[in-house]
Amino acid sequence: FHEDVKARGVLIVVEGLDRAGKTVQCQLLLEALQQRGHHVKYIKFPGNTTMKVCLGWVLKHACSDRNSLTGKIINGYLQGQAQQDDHSIHLLFSANRWEAAQRIRSDLSNGITIIVDRYSYSGAVYSAAKENPDLSLEWAWQPEVGLPRPDLLLFLSISAEETAKRGGYGEERYETNAMQSKVRHLFDRLLSMNHGHDIHLIDARFPVDQVAKDILNSTLGHLSERKPLETFAKLR
Ligand code: TMP
Repeated sequence: FHEDVKARGVLIVVEGLDRAGKTVQCQLLLEALQQRGHHVKYIKFPGNTTMKVCLGWVLKHACSDRNSLTGKIINGYLQGQAQQDDHSIHLLFSANRWEAAQRIRSDLSNGITIIVDRYSYSGAVYSAAKENPDLSLEWAWQPEVGLPRPDLLLFLSISAEETAKRGGYGEERYETNAMQSKVRHLFDRLLSMNHGHDIHLIDARFPVDQVAKDILNSTLGHLSERKPLETFAKLR
């Protein structure tokens, strides 16, 4: 008797501008997949930041280490309480993901599907949007090389102008129109490079329920992954 090779969990990343609705959508996706009997976890990057939406829900479900050293420094920076060199804070954001990488791998191999709220894509584009001449998108991507590559990337597509109309906008360091427009442009550039995985553009201007339906439809085809987990490569 040979046991079937156990299917691993699926690595799903949700990305988009600030206020695109990522955290709410992660919550709805998690619940929908759990209802279908999947073992699912939610993690968010950066860990340890102050949550603006669904606070109670995120605290209950987020399994990134909220007391990690990098998380605390990043939090202070995002709240405007501390200044940091652009490169230095960039590498801390990346380190915050590397701190979680081993855990992600072991959860996936134990059959747990993981929904990740922001990942390396945010890491690269927010730093590159600062237009520091020594911090290109290529430079910013480099520390991500070797991290687990998602099986599915859901990009919540919305313009900077539209997110600015949403509640709570402007509370954090990067929530300005100028910054969000550059971030949007860089997301488009980064996603147009071939990462070898499925990217689904989700129209995030629609009402929450409609967006949730689109996300679930995009996800359902990906839930029995048997090929090995891959890692990010250099930008080409
Ligand atoms: P949050 O609003 O999803 O908690 O993210 C906090 C901010 O941090 C958001 O403006 C995006 C930014 N960010 C980076 O600059 N680099 C990163 O690696 C990540 C994950 C987020």
